[in-house]
Amino acid sequence: MDGMTVQEVLAFAKILEENSNKFYSDAAKKAKLPNAKKFLDELAREELGHKELISNLEKKIDAGGDIPKITKKIKSLNISDFVAKHGLDDDADFIDILAVAMNKEKEAVKVYSTFAASLEDGKVKELFDFLINEEKRHLRRFEDDYDDYTDEMSHKKVSELIKKMRGR
Ligand SMILES: [Fe+2]
Ligand SMILES: [Fe+2]
Repeated sequence: MDGMTVQEVLAFAKILEENSNKFYSDAAKKAKLPNAKKFLDELAREELGHKELISNLEKKIDAGGDIPKITKKIKSLNISDFVAKHGLDDDADFIDILAVAMNKEKEAVKVYSTFAASLEDGKVKELFDFLINEEKRHLRRFEDDYDDYTDEMSHKKVSELIKKMRGR
């Protein structure tokens, strides 16, 4: 299969961001904890912002014709696979959301790193470097929350166990 063009790479990145936006707004609707809801809404807005950055750069490239070179062939990525993987069940709780979100952000970092490493220096590479940092920041937040949340759960389990033991 042929490698992707810069235009295809940008189009793919836009779909990825759209998809992330949809994932987080859906998750925000499902989240029961007010803090989680707020946090997920914020993430949804940020992903939408990423999509807008990509669109703006696309427009600039279309207008100016200044297309950066791909220095390393980028294999076509299967968009449908990417889109299908990240659904949430209706009864998903915050920990399920976190687990899927962490995977999502990890994949975004991976895909953008591939793009950035394959492009000559220029505005598109700069954008991908920026997006890599953004998605790493998202990932970090989820990892921290995941740690806190799972800690909380095990604390709860331990205190339930102590209560049970005392009751005996
Ligand atoms: Fe994003
Ligand atoms: Fe993200």
